[in-house]
Amino acid sequence: MENIMIIGASGQIGSELTMKLRKMYGHSHVFATDLKDPPPDVRESGPFELLDVMDDKRLIHFVIRHKITQIYHLAAVLSGNAEKLPMQAWRINMDGLLNVLDLAKEVEEIRKVFWPSSIAVFGPSTPRENTPQLTIMEPNTVYGISKLAGERWCEYFYHRYQVDVRSIRYPGLISYKTEPGGGTTDYAIEIFFEALKKGSYTCFLRKDAKLPMLFMSDAIDATIGLMEAEASGLSIRSGYNIGGLSFSPDELAAEIRKQIPDFTIRYKPDYRQAIAEGWPRSIDDHVSRKDWGYQPEYNLQEIVKVMMEGVKDKINYKK
Ligand code: NAD
Ligand code: SER
Repeated sequence: MENIMIIGASGQIGSELTMKLRKMYGHSHVFATDLKDPPPDVRESGPFELLDVMDDKRLIHFVIRHKITQIYHLAAVLSGNAEKLPMQAWRINMDGLLNVLDLAKEVEEIRKVFWPSSIAVFGPSTPRENTPQLTIMEPNTVYGISKLAGERWCEYFYHRYQVDVRSIRYPGLISYKTEPGGGTTDYAIEIFFEALKKGSYTCFLRKDAKLPMLFMSDAIDATIGLMEAEASGLSIRSGYNIGGLSFSPDELAAEIRKQIPDFTIRYKPDYRQAIAEGWPRSIDDHVSRKDWGYQPEYNLQEIVKVMMEGVKDKINYKK
């Protein structure tokens, strides 16, 4: 029997991952935790506790009390917000991960840990098209530096202490259930809300800022797919590249315009444009496909269709 702990369960990924894992493993076996309250479905469908990942003593009590066997550690400060408070972001991103890895090393019952990395591990000197699994990695943001250091720690704990930690370098993730957490790819979510509420959007990236993206249900399936894969088939213990699709704000706006013909977009790039310029434009994910059968489903047209419907519901859109 598995007892799963999710740290950061109130966030963009955690809130959807919790619900999927509860369906799979039973609602009472998936323990959601976060610093802030979760959305109603997470709170009402199973156990939730307010918990700070920086509090290592409470963390160990929690894990022992609930006989935790797997941890998904999602709490972090994302790229845009991290640039505003670099030292605080570094502490949360690094110390939080080290608390979880150390816990998994000490508590034998914890069989597996998932921790997300990001395309932010790459930097301006990385080849930007079809970015390989193994390549130059010189990130120039505090978020990217913390993710790269995190990957190194994960690999270290795997080899040195046999902690079965698994990781994915997520691209920008698109969903409508919760507000995104302050990342550079968040424009691709905000745009839907603004298009439906106001018919226009001011984008903080340039029109040609093409980035790799993925629909949330593909990201959740990938995460669980990696966690369920046989350990013997996994050749990467830092972070697996996963791609999906790549598009620019201009291309996304054109697709939205097919449904809202009057939709207009302006461009007012801010500090996040510089972050985007250091990231890949597309990702080579053949190692993930080979090792654990990664296969995303959603293309841009499908994402726009589902996002439009989801955001309309969320904002009680009437026209
Ligand atoms: P998010 O900001 O929406 O959620 C993170 C959650 O962590 C929040 O609910 C926050 O309250 C919680 N949290 C923050 N500090 C905490 C602490 N000290 N203790 C406990 N909880 C704390 O972020 P997300 O988009 O869901 O991202 C989750 C993970 O995935 C992060 O590691 C992020 O770097 C990674 N990731 C996300 C994306 C994306 O596009 N969303 C892409 C690449 C990687
Ligand atoms: N979507 C994330 C961000 O923009 C990438 O890690 O921060």
